[in-house]
Amino acid sequence: MNESIGSIQTAALAQIAAATDVRTLDDARVAVLGKKGTLSLAAAGIKEVPPQEKAAFGQLLNAARTAITAALAEKQAALREQADRAALAGIDLTLPARRVPVGSLHPLTLIRDQAIGILRRMGFALADGPEIEDEFHCFDALNTPADHPARNEKDTFYFDSGKLLRTHTSSVQIRTMESQPPPLRIIAPGSAYRRDEIDATHLSAFNQLEGLYVDREVSLPDLKGTLEYFFREMFGTSTEVRFRPHFFPFTEPSFEIDVKLQIKGQTPRWIEVAGCGMVDPAVFESLSQSRKDQAYDPEQVTGFAFGMGLDRLAMIRWGIKDIRLLIENDVRFLKQFA
Ligand code: DAH
Repeated sequence: MNESIGSIQTAALAQIAAATDVRTLDDARVAVLGKKGTLSLAAAGIKEVPPQEKAAFGQLLNAARTAITAALAEKQAALREQADRAALAGIDLTLPARRVPVGSLHPLTLIRDQAIGILRRMGFALADGPEIEDEFHCFDALNTPADHPARNEKDTFYFDSGKLLRTHTSSVQIRTMESQPPPLRIIAPGSAYRRDEIDATHLSAFNQLEGLYVDREVSLPDLKGTLEYFFREMFGTSTEVRFRPHFFPFTEPSFEIDVKLQIKGQTPRWIEVAGCGMVDPAVFESLSQSRKDQAYDPEQVTGFAFGMGLDRLAMIRWGIKDIRLLIENDVRFLKQFA
């Protein structure tokens, strides 16, 4: 009996030593330690061992199991190390790692977020409206008559349904006033569309930011103060801002806003950045009709509105000479804003 344990151990250690991978090593383990393994069967034979030899037999059995278990563990570690080494063969761990390219925000996103940030601090809330608009919200409700040049087939994208791609974000003024009574202080950044010939300063799809403030006793000084502050936050606290009389159908009086700026490599000059004005009472009157109430009674409320081109602000801010760069997604251009 004792001899057979000795030979089981020798055979098992030989099989373990001969194992070439995890599979054959596990076969070896099962063959000796498994339920019907050679050592397990031998251990079951302890019943037949005479009582006085049982202790010695047991010791021998334990010693064999310990030796076999240790050999298994050692061989397993050796095989694992061998597998690791094989997996890394041909890989140079001293090579510097490949850099993961990091993206950045688009200049239009940067300028839009900055504009929103400044205006939100002054209490303006975000508003939204559809880009596929009807003529009423884009023109009629904004006091823009049917024969106004902006409504020309050549200037605007019309659908067969009679709807159109909004030519400005000013339509959001009407949509917001239709659904909310005053006081109202909103901004609406978004796309606008015109049938412009595409060149260095024109795209057929561009970006605007609209603003509207309606309450009792909103006055021209409020308009001037708000927009002067806005453009000084945008372009620097000492920036000169001027209001030049102009005409828009939906504001009276109306102005264009210029800021005096020095674009990189040029002498300082006045640059037009926005349109604005006091909401024309005709706009409020039209609202009374569509709302069927007097919430926007022009005798009670006044307001100011403004609209600016975000593409243009980005071009001024970074001295971008061609507006098309903003939509070409050339990484060499975009990564300068990272
Ligand atoms: N909607 C005008 C445009 O696209 C810009 C504008 C001018 C908006 C005056 C306004 C405003 O709200 O009061 O040219």
